Amino acid sequence: MTEKRSIVQKAYAKVNLTLEILGKRRDGYHDLVSVMQTVNLFDTVTVSEADSIVVDCDDSEITADDNLVTKAAIELKNRAAISEGAKISVEKRIPVSAGLGGGSADAAATLRGLNYLWNLGLTDGDLLETAASVGSDVPFLIKGGTSLVGGRGEEVVPIPSAKIPKFLIVTPDVHQQPGISKTAFAFSRVDKSMYTLGNLTHKLAARIRSGGDCPPELFFNQFQVLAEDIYPRWALSLQRLNNIGVSEVILCGSGPSIFTVPPSKEIGTAWHLLLSTTYGEKAFLVEPVPSDTES
Ligand code: C5P
Repeated sequence: MTEKRSIVQKAYAKVNLTLEILGKRRDGYHDLVSVMQTVNLFDTVTVSEADSIVVDCDDSEITADDNLVTKAAIELKNRAAISEGAKISVEKRIPVSAGLGGGSADAAATLRGLNYLWNLGLTDGDLLETAASVGSDVPFLIKGGTSLVGGRGEEVVPIPSAKIPKFLIVTPDVHQQPGISKTAFAFSRVDKSMYTLGNLTHKLAARIRSGGDCPPELFFNQFQVLAEDIYPRWALSLQRLNNIGVSEVILCGSGPSIFTVPPSKEIGTAWHLLLSTTYGEKAFLVEPVPSDTES
């Protein structure tokens, strides 16, 4: 019997250095602009030969039906019009429904892995189109790195790596209700007064392109004004960060995670330790990851 082929892919989490909402579209989605960055907090996605699509996740709370990995595999199989299946195993480390793009990263890793496993020879452009049909964050996560992202998430323009040594990410324990799409709920709370022209995002992207640094004053997330209201106990985590001397925090995606850029490696390590041991917060001290073409 021949050994079954397997392909292992890292599925990196993302943070949004900026996230601005430009307006509502006819299709019900919102047009956004965002500078997105992958970080080295990752799930591991293994795809192997099988007769049908089988999805297995070590987090029992994520059912195969809810898993974006299943949607990605079925979408790619249909588009490629092939009869092969695949077993897709996901080892989770990225917190679920946290604003860190975990499910979308798993879906993107699935598309990359299946492109190899099924010998489809698809270009990045082909994969981007499939990715957009799976979810708005999936196109960026096909390649990761640093990108200026527009449309509802499907317009991905890679830019040079952002010069940020470390991110400290905290995922508040906000007891989300099962069955409600957290992202859809956050978008339903957006009103016209929150729309911007995207200037902050374009300013940051221009600065990164010209080789400049990334001062935290240029980071921004429009969803942050809603966070305290839509996530019970979110303010408690913010208070704990403030207590240990962190003043600048930025929401990740539509939340509830937040990130800060520590002023030095030592301070980052100390903040991480304090938050995780003294306060029992879920905290990650991570670095940016370049896109797979840069690494
Ligand atoms: O694309 P995704 O499945 O991640 O989106 C979840 C929900 O978030 C959408 O159904 C939509 O209500 C909202 N959304 C939006 N505009 C975006 C992305 C998502 O309104 N750009």
